Order: sequence, then structure tokens, then C-alpha cells
Amino acid sequence: MGKVKRVLFATGNKHKFHEAEIVLSKYGLSVEQWAVKRLEVQSESLEEIAKTSLAWLMLEKYPEYPFFVEDAGLFVNALNGFPGPYSSYVFNKIGNEGLLKLMDGVENRRAEFISVVAFTEGKEILVFEGRTSGFISYMARGERGFGFDPVFIPEEGDGRSFAELDVEEKNRMSHRAKALRKLAEWLTSSKII
Ligand code: IMP
Repeated sequence: MGKVKRVLFATGNKHKFHEAEIVLSKYGLSVEQWAVKRLEVQSESLEEIAKTSLAWLMLEKYPEYPFFVEDAGLFVNALNGFPGPYSSYVFNKIGNEGLLKLMDGVENRRAEFISVVAFTEGKEILVFEGRTSGFISYMARGERGFGFDPVFIPEEGDGRSFAELDVEEKNRMSHRAKALRKLAEWLTSSKII
């Protein structure tokens, strides 16, 4: 057996880390949390946010390699993709209640979560994306997860919100798990790390 491949996840979010730990362990990969403060630029593109954040860490924080960052956003159709790349700011300002208020009387509840993982082994930067379509619920439901989980109902699910699912169930269909599985497939087949 070869040695276990180890990778760092630069995030302060323990929920994201736990989700990643479970996904990557299925591929025999070991992940450690690097709870470093990251630079988050404002941009319309999640890919640009993730890549800039990764590049900044490479230059400023003497990282251990290999490592990755992940940026995600909730894109609501009826709001022309808002809050999208501004999801973190919007969630902190108005929360789930605020989002439900914005959706008051709106019939088209379609939304999509997008996750972008940016990875480096020290030289190249690789990007992996995952998407999950679903609907904004009419009321918050569930106690698990974080962020907009209580108001997001994945289309591939059984009608429960992300916050009503346990981590394994959320990982079966979440945007983040999809991006992380692409990373894991690349890592397990790569000779670079
Ligand atoms: P960031 O990638 O940490 O900047 O996340 C942006 C924001 O989107 C977070 O603060 C959450 O509010 C929301 N978000 C991202 N991923 C998820 C998720 O899996 N569930 C619920 N909310 C999420």
C-alpha cells in the first residue's frame, strides 16, 4: 500500500471541514483543517475569489503543501442570481429570515448552490466546481448544517431541506461534495502528490 495522501483545507468553517473530511476519507485521503484568516476579494466570479484567496495564502502565509480553499454561493433565479458571490455577507446581514422576506410572494423558488474548490501542490492551481439545483423553501426547517441550509431544498432529495439531512445525506447531493469528489478523483490518480 502507498502512503496516505494528506491535504490541508484552509477554512475557518468547521461544518465545511467536516463535510470535506467525510468525502475525502472515502477516497483514502486524509484532510486537516488549516484555520487561517483568508483574503476574500469581491468579484462576480466564485472562481476568481477562490483562486485569488489561494494565491494570496501561497504568497503571504508560508503554507504547507498541498492545500485547497473552497468558496460557495447561493444563486436565486428570481433574484437574478443574488446573493451569489456575496452570500457570506448577505447571510451575516439578513440571515435566512431576510432571504425569505425577499422571496415573499415570489412563485419561482428555483435556486442553485455552486461550490468552487481551488487546489495547489505549490506550483499549479487547479479548480473544481460542483452545483446543486433546488428550491428556496417557504419557511426555515431543520437544525443541522450552517448558513442557508434551513431554506434550501435540493431537487435530487426527498423534500427535506439541507438542514434536515445528516452530513452523509447532504454529501450525497451537495455542491461542495461534488466539487470535492472531483478533487479527490484527481488526487487519487495524480502522481504529483
Ligand atoms: P463562503 O464560501 O464561506 O464565502 O460561503 C458563502 C456563504 O454561502 C456562507 O456564509 C453560507 O451562508 C452560504 N453557504 C455556502 N455553502 C453553503 C452550504 O453548503 N449550505 C448553506 N449555506 C452555504
